[in-house]
Amino acid sequence: MRHLIDAKTITPEYAGRLIASAEDIINNPQDYTTKCKGKILATLFYEPSTRTRLSFESAMLRLGGSVLGFSSQDSSSAAKGESVADTLRVVSGYADIAVIRHHKEGAALVASLYSSIPIINAGDGGHQHPTQTLTDLLTIHSVHKKLDNLTIGLCGDLKFGRTVHSLIEAMSQYKNNKFVLVSPQELIIPDYLREKMLKNNVSFTETEDLKQSIKDMDILYMTRVQRERFFNEEDYVRLKDTYILDKQKLSNAKENLAVMHPLPRLNEISTEIDSDPRAVYFRQAHYGRFIRMALIMDLLEEVK
Ligand code: NCD
Repeated sequence: MRHLIDAKTITPEYAGRLIASAEDIINNPQDYTTKCKGKILATLFYEPSTRTRLSFESAMLRLGGSVLGFSSQDSSSAAKGESVADTLRVVSGYADIAVIRHHKEGAALVASLYSSIPIINAGDGGHQHPTQTLTDLLTIHSVHKKLDNLTIGLCGDLKFGRTVHSLIEAMSQYKNNKFVLVSPQELIIPDYLREKMLKNNVSFTETEDLKQSIKDMDILYMTRVQRERFFNEEDYVRLKDTYILDKQKLSNAKENLAVMHPLPRLNEISTEIDSDPRAVYFRQAHYGRFIRMALIMDLLEEVK
């Protein structure tokens, strides 16, 4: 049985297949309305979510399937102290596929070890968020018509931002991609990721200067400072508004830059940017449903 736990398993070949499937869904939605008829998706969300949970639920409903689940730790038996392992043993009997979001790194992996149905990681603490990466890849592909030979700026909380970690894992597998990592010193990428990039000869630079480095970028992936992962509020307050992308900073960027953000946005992107054609973050959120439809079908082996 296949799961999606870690973005390192999103190879260019696998991503290409899912992107092609998502693009076909976008163009021919009527062909997919009964693909998962009779199947049930469980959404097990121990942490808050808007886009990820709702797009998964919408995806399954659009495929003719059904959904069940919980949207907070408090409304599940986790509040009574039940382990993820036991919950998954039980949910395996109620659904055909499950999506899990949890505050602990490794929770989705644990879930997959005790589950007899495919598990999708929808975010495990500050570690990974592979289905956001699939959404990101579909978006980048729609803008640049390729996923290689790109200069990818990642800006903000690169330490705790799980979407960043997963995007680096996947985009490093394509030829000639360069990463420009923009963050305050305290929020640089984790050591394991830097070591992996060095070992694999992935090209990257680390800087604190967005204004200067934006010039070279084909993609600028802004992120929220992850308040819920901080040990103290003072550090969060000091760092949260380090980078605010506004018209003035964007004036230094390329004409075909794609400004992305996994959302939710706080202050990191000024709303004056929303109407700029380079702002693709709302399209990115919409694409989440299509790629998740492709993923659900693939893991349930319903792909034509
Ligand atoms: C992200 C997450 O949960 O990691 N949100 C999302 O799924 N689109 C980003 C964030 O919360 O900052």
